[in-house]
Amino acid sequence: MSENIRTIIRPADQTAFNEAGELLRQGKLVAFPTETVYGLGADATNGTAVAGIYAAKGRPKFNPLIVHVTDRAMAERYVTVPDLASRLMEAFWPGPLTLVLPRKPGCTLTPLVSAGLDTAAIRCPSHPVARAVIAASDRPLAAPSANRSGKMSPTTCDHVATDLSGRVAMIVDGGQTEIGVESTVIGFHGGRAALLRPGGMPRAAIEEITGPLMAPEAGVISSPGQLSSHYAPNAKVRLNATTLEADECLLAFGPNPPECRKTVCNLSLCGDVTEAAANLFVMLHKLDKIGATRIAVMPIPNTGLGEAINDRLHRAAAPRPEDPANPPDAHQ
Ligand code: TXA
Ligand code: MG
Repeated sequence: MSENIRTIIRPADQTAFNEAGELLRQGKLVAFPTETVYGLGADATNGTAVAGIYAAKGRPKFNPLIVHVTDRAMAERYVTVPDLASRLMEAFWPGPLTLVLPRKPGCTLTPLVSAGLDTAAIRCPSHPVARAVIAASDRPLAAPSANRSGKMSPTTCDHVATDLSGRVAMIVDGGQTEIGVESTVIGFHGGRAALLRPGGMPRAAIEEITGPLMAPEAGVISSPGQLSSHYAPNAKVRLNATTLEADECLLAFGPNPPECRKTVCNLSLCGDVTEAAANLFVMLHKLDKIGATRIAVMPIPNTGLGEAINDRLHRAAAPRPEDPANPPDAHQ
């Protein structure tokens, strides 16, 4: 993929959807909003198009990607749906829940979306713009978050344009995304469900249907894309901060600490984890923009979307590949 193609940015309307559909059928890349974050979409049945995603993101290796569909019938063209997955679809689709399911024999999704595994991760987004783009392309769409490798996930068109202008054919601008963290990813083994990535659908809601979720470490399934350093702002991140050092900016949760005169971004003044999830990447982007070098993050409870927030923050705080102790491909 050329690094200097012209990127068209369009407000989300039917003309834009038609144009996006046409570009996607030609194997081009189109970024669009979902209810979680913006996705970088390509025709999931076209290996060259999907390879273009890795090139545009600068991903050092092929991790499996989520395939986006408009409904269950579209999913069932490509994967088999065990009973437990079927119940989750009924309860939560369309929405921020991705299911890793066995590829059907003769499945026409490019093997690249599965990174060689015999499963594919399928998600049915609820965002009307995402749905309109999938429908207009008439293809299942592989779509990771629309950011350069190792950078934070984009929740506005502006974030996508900053990272990927010149690398994607088109960005459909649908405003700020609502949930702000990626979908929850669930895998299945031996009739049980495992949490492969915490995300926009809280664990408790899923467990009402599945019972206690297995940890990926406990089973034989794993989520190859879950690398430790990810979602990283430029600044170094310190978690569970109860004090603030001289050169740190504060990412607060709940009431601002008294007498704090330093730069404060507050994820949720009233301590609401759902509001905090929606603000997470917006505020990390903002702190990057003002040139923060160190960010101290106040403790965030692990309930509801707090589990997804803490997962992303732990990755942001993990050692980086540019640190000498880390191998060069630990970043995604
Ligand atoms: O909210 C979201 O899910 C966003 C928006 C754009 O829809 N998309 C997203 O896609 O985050 P992506 O492709 O970056 O997510 C990949 C995640 C990784 O954690 C990966 O390991 C897991 O899904 N995954 C994908 N295919 C898998 C498979 N066959 N087996 C296990 N894990 C898989
Ligand atoms: Mg991502």
